[in-house]
Amino acid sequence: MSDNRPIGVFDSGLGGLTVVRALKQYLPNEDIVYFGDTGRVPYGTRSNDIVKKYAREDEAFLLSQNVKMIIAACGTVSSVAYMTADELPVPFFEVVTPAAKAAAKATKKGRVGVLGTPVTVKSRSHARAILNLLPDAVIVANSCPLFVPLVEEGWISADDNVTFEVAKRYLEPIKQGDVDTLILGCTHYPALKGTIARVMGDGVTLIDPSVATATSVKEYLKNNNMLNENGGKYKYFVSDRPDSFSKTAKILMGESLELDVSQVDIFDYIQGK
Ligand code: DGL
Repeated sequence: MSDNRPIGVFDSGLGGLTVVRALKQYLPNEDIVYFGDTGRVPYGTRSNDIVKKYAREDEAFLLSQNVKMIIAACGTVSSVAYMTADELPVPFFEVVTPAAKAAAKATKKGRVGVLGTPVTVKSRSHARAILNLLPDAVIVANSCPLFVPLVEEGWISADDNVTFEVAKRYLEPIKQGDVDTLILGCTHYPALKGTIARVMGDGVTLIDPSVATATSVKEYLKNNNMLNENGGKYKYFVSDRPDSFSKTAKILMGESLELDVSQVDIFDYIQGK
């Protein structure tokens, strides 16, 4: 048995493309519909109620595309809008739980760092998920709001000294916390893996939520006979002008592609419509 409908993936903007990259690697036969809410990014500094409202609208758009599952490829949405999952007629995946599980497995000292947007860090979503698995774990978290614009600007090289100085400042409390595992809890941050590794040094395992999520989605689709056997097509939608999409997509997906990208008016979509 198979299910050839596409997987729906959404993010506040383009950070979720790191999840698309991982899905492409682990599930090359799946069709994907991606929605990036570029007209309303960032979500990471807003109130929980607004993030939930936006998530419901983004999910309504994806449902209109006949998706078989929805992935919130956004640490912020995953941290506060997971309860919207019960309202959905299709399975819902997010990026916090898989990353927390991978971190709990990786840590030897039981000391885990978490980086995320202000909403994500305030929600303590990763800490709750890790403490469920490792009740004695020590979690040290810090928000890194400047990372998102640095990534969108393309300043992602590990040799970029401006990004390095910013990372040093954000990572100071994490280093002080003597962690051996660090979750990159925002889907933009894997683009800065090189810089973060340069600051943290050897001996700290970086957990990329996109890889952890793609592997758990693969397992789910397989176990539920929902794999697509002959897909591999990608459609991208954004809520603001699509012009700079390809440039940022290249940064986040690590490849240069001719992408099928269209603009959608997200205000036309409310859940239940
Ligand atoms: N990609 C979003 C996340 O994972 C970060 C951008 C934002 O603040 O909306 O949290």
